Parts: sequence; structure tokens; C-alpha cells
Amino acid sequence: MVVVTQGRELSENQKLIFNKIWGSARNKSEDIFSRKDLRPQDLYFFLHTEDTCVAVGRLREIPDVYLEKELWKIPVWGMSSISVDPKYQKSGLGKKLVEEIKNYAVKNKLCIIGFYDKKSSLDWFYRKCGFEVNDQMGKSFLIKTGDEIKDNCDEAVLYFKNDPLIAEIFKNKKVYIPYTW
Ligand SMILES: CC(C)(COP(=O)(O)OP(=O)(O)OC[C@H]1O[C@@H](n2cnc3c(N)ncnc32)[C@H](O)[C@@H]1OP(=O)(O)O)[C@@H](O)C(=O)NCCC(=O)NCCS
Repeated sequence: MVVVTQGRELSENQKLIFNKIWGSARNKSEDIFSRKDLRPQDLYFFLHTEDTCVAVGRLREIPDVYLEKELWKIPVWGMSSISVDPKYQKSGLGKKLVEEIKNYAVKNKLCIIGFYDKKSSLDWFYRKCGFEVNDQMGKSFLIKTGDEIKDNCDEAVLYFKNDPLIAEIFKNKKVYIPYTW
């Protein structure tokens, strides 16, 4: 079963669980993961087996996405923080969580993208989850940091096959987004 909660509605217990699974999956110390920023507008996914939460992930709203000079009308969300409790990894739960996120996106007509460091070796996982992975497409995403606009060429892009925003990139258009995460 998956529970989806918006950031502003998270209970203290959900915040604790999210940070704990995110931190333990990455070997972070409690000191670091208890301070993780959980934004109120984001969507948090909790995958349960029976009474235990075994995996978490989130969709981060990316507001004000521009395609060339035009404001893009379809909501764009970034998938991030996919984490499976180390006790339960490699038993299909990471894939199950991402499938739930995908179903949610289809139902709610959201564009989902993800960025990740090209050097990390997670392509295998995301491909098994039904994503396309493109390590050149980062160049088409222009990101504003302070006054500077630069392309996101160090990161690979994850996306679903028929995503309308991605179809525009294949027509050589550039996407402007306010930040990554
Ligand atoms: C990456 C992560 C989310 C994967 O979750 P998981 O539950 O262990 O993965 P799954 O069991 O769902 O694996 C999905 C598929 O990948 C395969 N797979 C699992 N581990 C693998 C490995 N080390 N190498 C290659 N394939 C692997 C599985 O066999 C499965 O394939 P199948 O459907 O053909 O059986 C999990 O390991 C994790 O939390 N890692 C730490 C945090 C992280 O790096 N998150 C991602 C970045 S945001």
C-alpha cells in the first residue's frame, strides 16, 4: 500500500520515518538526516508492507518552467529521494515505489522528470522501473542559480517515454527551470 501526503500535512511521525529511511539508505548520520528540508508543497510517498514503512520517495514541484520563452502549462515535478530501508533492499520494493509514483503522475497528468549525477551508477535501477535515461539531455535544461543561467550537462535526465515536455526537447527546444535540487 502506498500513502501520499503533501509536505504541509506530514505528521511528526511521517517526517521522522521519511528522514530515517532516506538517511539510512544513504549511510548518513542521524544528525544530518534529521535536518533534511521537507518542503510543504512537495508530495511524499510512503510504501508500506503490512504495518511497516519500507520505502519512501518524493515529487518536488518545479514551478515556473519555461519552454523557450513560453510558460509551460502542464505541471512539472521532479522525482527525488527514492530510498528503500536497507533491510528490505533488492526485493522489488524500490521498483514498486517508483511504479506507484508513476501511476500517481499518470492519474494526475503530471510531467515527471529526474536528474542525477552521470557518475552514479543507477541507470540499471531506473531503466527497470520503466524510465528512459539520457545522459546528454541535461544540456537542454537551463537552470538559473542567482544571476547565472547554465545548462545542466553534468546530470543525466530520467523521463517517461511520452512526456510532452521531453517531446519538445527532441525538437531542439530548450527548457528553463528555476533550480534543481
Ligand atoms: C536504489 C534503490 C532505491 C533500489 O531499491 P531496491 O528495492 O533495492 O531495488 P529493487 O529490488 O526494486 O530492484 C529493481 C530491479 O533492479 C535489479 N537490481 C537490484 N539491485 C541491483 C544491482 N545492484 N545491480 C543490478 N540490478 C539490480 C533487481 O533485480 C530488479 O530487477 P528485476 O525487476 O528484473 O528483478 C535502493 O538500493 C536504495 O534505496 N539505494 C540508496 C539510495 C539511492 O541511491 N537512491 C536512488 C537515488 S535518489
